[in-house]
Amino acid sequence: MLTKLAPLALACALAAQTAAAQTTTPLPRLESRGGHHALIVDGAPFVILGGQVNNSTNYPEPLKTAWPVLDAMHANTVEVPIAWEQVEPVEGKYDLSFLQDLLDQARAHDKRVVLLWFGAWKNTSPSYTPAWVKLNNARFPRMKDPQGKDHGVLSPLFPATMEADRRAFAKVMDYLRDHDRQNTVIMVQPENETGSYRVPRDFSAEGNRLFAQQIPATLARKTGKSGTWTQAFGAQAPRAFNTWYVASYVNALAQAGKAVKALPMYVNGSLAGPSNVPDPTGVASGGPQWDVLDIWKAAAPAIDLAAPDIYDRASGNVIQYLDKYTRPDNALMVPEIGNAKEFARFFWPTIGRGGIGFSPFGMDASGYFNYPLGARALDSKELAAFALPYATVSSIMRDWAKIAATRPTWGTAKPDNGSDQSVTLGPWTITASWGQWQFGMKDWTWIKADPAPWASEPVGGMAVAQLSDHEYLVMGDHVRISFSPADKRDDGMVVSVEEGTFRDGKWVTARVWNGDQTDYGLNLIDRPQVLKVTTGSYADGKR
Ligand code: DGJ
Repeated sequence: MLTKLAPLALACALAAQTAAAQTTTPLPRLESRGGHHALIVDGAPFVILGGQVNNSTNYPEPLKTAWPVLDAMHANTVEVPIAWEQVEPVEGKYDLSFLQDLLDQARAHDKRVVLLWFGAWKNTSPSYTPAWVKLNNARFPRMKDPQGKDHGVLSPLFPATMEADRRAFAKVMDYLRDHDRQNTVIMVQPENETGSYRVPRDFSAEGNRLFAQQIPATLARKTGKSGTWTQAFGAQAPRAFNTWYVASYVNALAQAGKAVKALPMYVNGSLAGPSNVPDPTGVASGGPQWDVLDIWKAAAPAIDLAAPDIYDRASGNVIQYLDKYTRPDNALMVPEIGNAKEFARFFWPTIGRGGIGFSPFGMDASGYFNYPLGARALDSKELAAFALPYATVSSIMRDWAKIAATRPTWGTAKPDNGSDQSVTLGPWTITASWGQWQFGMKDWTWIKADPAPWASEPVGGMAVAQLSDHEYLVMGDHVRISFSPADKRDDGMVVSVEEGTFRDGKWVTARVWNGDQTDYGLNLIDRPQVLKVTTGSYADGKR
């Protein structure tokens, strides 16, 4: 009897376990339609107003220093690493206690989490692998340089490495499936800034053998290229080869992770210039730089998007990066950007391109600053620069995300040369200009004015969405926004400007701007304000 009942009891127990593991809210997912993208969280579009903590904040005590920083900047999401070395310090013995701590702390502070898996690659290095991996070069081989010497980076070509990494990563995903039914973790980044500097591919015997082969059929189909790696990619062949194998390795992790819990997964790229095709030995060869995204797409279908880590302060370069990673097959997300205040203005062109997330790096009070990449120190001025755009958007975050998923949007930041920036959306041209007081015109001579205190500062940005033929939603800071008819007809006019917000998806007007508040453009300077602009034409008598 007992032996007959046992399987039944086991089946019941398993069923109960599966039910318990089922999520109570719909799984986060990425939706792409008609060139628009939306990160769906709790069943509706969501924008990550994020902050990434420093690299060693993946322990309970230092993590506590992040919350006041994240609260001060109005962040809704924290990006936090979890390291292979802390999850599996001894092979086969797993410790997920930090993950539970992270979930508890994030929930207590009302934040969502993007989890960063620091495995075989962390800024290309295996520094976050456990000692039993780091020290066992026979089992987990490093790449070889052309002279046959070991390079510091692990080779992507050996299944033993990938399988060990994947096993540990899957344990993390198991834990999320079983202990995060409310989906506090909304996205996962398997590995961090993959690739290798200086040595563009593994020159081991196995590397050379694979390099002499024809390129994989999937890659040939995607790129229209054929032949061997050298025939297909010429001078970039070693890099294309490494990219394929690194991306395939990361894809194997993502696939295994998604089989456990199908969260959106993305990879981040260490950038090498927005317009030059990089020297294969000068770039993190293998990483998801903009010019090899097609290889990543072909090799890593389980990866939802590739994202730029931006530490370049030149405004023109930042805009080019945002453009390169905004593709119908790639949602824009900025998982890292410098935390110096001048970077904050790039939030606006990010969301204006339909970006699903933005996250300055180093947002905790653990006492570490990555200057010159970011700020010298995270003082209240740096925090305020991020807090203002985040506060503006957080008041309508769900509505903006929904609008951006279907309607035309645009965003801009003050360029280094301070020139005006314009877009034509439907029948109206919208122009952003910088460094002006709220009242009056720059070219007035009848009255003297000191320059605005922010005129020489790298601050200012805006985003706009076209809600209908004649309605626009605008937000921004340190910007003057002007509307003019695109066809230059002089019967066009701004009919009304309403400051307000959305409540239950419906626009609610708090006040109407008029007089000084609209005579010199719409001047959004230093507070969170959301405006709805209605345009019209008196010749047509229509809005
Ligand atoms: C990019 C990496 O992805 C981050 O983890 C960090 O190391 C920064 N560079 C530099 O602070």
